[in-house]
Amino acid sequence: MRVLLVGGGGREHAVGWKLAQSKTITDLIAVPGNPGFAQLGACVPGIDILDPHAIVDLALANAIDLVVIGPEAPLAAGVVDALTAAGIRAFGPTQAGAQLESSKAFAKSIMKRAGVPTANWRAFTDVNEATEYLEQIDGPYVVKADGLAYGKGVLVTEDLIAAQGWARLCIGGEFGEAGSTVVIEEYLPGQEVSVFAICDGARAVALEPARDYKRHRDGDRGPNTGGMGCYSPVADLPEDLVDRTIDEIFHPVLAEMSSDGIEYRGFLYAGLVLTDDGPKVLEFNCRLGDPETQVLLARLDEDLLELLASAAEGYLPDGPLIWRDTAAVDVVLTAAGYPDHPEVGRAISGVNEVRSMPNVQVFHANTRRTPEGLVTAGGRVLNIVATGDTIEEARSRAYDAASHIHFGGIHYRRDVAQS
Ligand code: AMP
Ligand code: GLY
Repeated sequence: MRVLLVGGGGREHAVGWKLAQSKTITDLIAVPGNPGFAQLGACVPGIDILDPHAIVDLALANAIDLVVIGPEAPLAAGVVDALTAAGIRAFGPTQAGAQLESSKAFAKSIMKRAGVPTANWRAFTDVNEATEYLEQIDGPYVVKADGLAYGKGVLVTEDLIAAQGWARLCIGGEFGEAGSTVVIEEYLPGQEVSVFAICDGARAVALEPARDYKRHRDGDRGPNTGGMGCYSPVADLPEDLVDRTIDEIFHPVLAEMSSDGIEYRGFLYAGLVLTDDGPKVLEFNCRLGDPETQVLLARLDEDLLELLASAAEGYLPDGPLIWRDTAAVDVVLTAAGYPDHPEVGRAISGVNEVRSMPNVQVFHANTRRTPEGLVTAGGRVLNIVATGDTIEEARSRAYDAASHIHFGGIHYRRDVAQS
């Protein structure tokens, strides 16, 4: 099978690495890919991945059998719709399905109709109505830009004035169109976990849970980020959590969307909070997490290409997925200034040395190949993923490997997967 992978971050490097191990793969190309992926297949530069027609043209020109889309933005832009219309098989939800992530109001209304537990909420497009509503309710206040804001559109605060200011900022255009509607929702206290599944329109098959570290500094301090590290498996979860999430959340949501003519085929990711009344949904994403993907694929003992191709066709094989009996830990190496203003262009050393270490993978997130060598090109630079018999073993391998990588301003959390 000839496969085109859309995206160029650490998640896509890991997906490419796993696809490349498939029995049925013959060719793998990525748009835009990255210098790490370039070891696996060709990278096509200079194409706007948010332009559905450009992706269709690229797929046709390369006689592609399956397109796999990593990030949410091309899904929300309708890349899968255009590919399907052109008769090209694609893994990922259509634009309508991707609204589960691209519109919080859409996700809320599907959940309401499907009877899926989530925080009570109201949507506003008028600043005065939003600020008045905030005055009437008690804190903590949760105020969210409705659309895709790359994790930056949410404020949780005890401070009424700050909550009102956030609503004003969103509707006032801080996040462009994504913030023109704000969702104000009930605060849900409790432990947060993520559950992932692969869906074929009717069925959701669970992936193992993984726990990521969103805050920038040790001890969950500092600003929110895309993710500073991750590990899997996660020991301290309720035993029935994944089954309940499939039965009470994913399947009702798929059925509800299907009744609207939306066959959701792709990854589905639920951010949950564990309340006394069971798991409740904080958010959906229409993709896999980054860096969650990196640890999950290090443990998945399946042919990923076969799975994605079957899901794209609308039938997933019966039964649960097979997982290696190993633990995986990902430590994300970031640039100085991340998450706000990451420094770029710093020379990176040590990658080849680490790549030759047993049980360790290096997945590139934001690097660039120059005549002088590899340099940093964004906030999250590299993922060091190690496996082991236990989390402790994987963790110590990951940190040992990380200590061999150097670039100016390097920062990473030292407490990933620490009990
Ligand atoms: P979201 O992007 O919707 O997942 O929100 C980002 C983060 O804000 C979540 O990971 C939670 O930590 C927090 N959050 C969002 N919604 C709520 C809520 N209803 N109650 C408590 N915390 C929330
Ligand atoms: N690591 C969180 C995310 O991918 O949304």
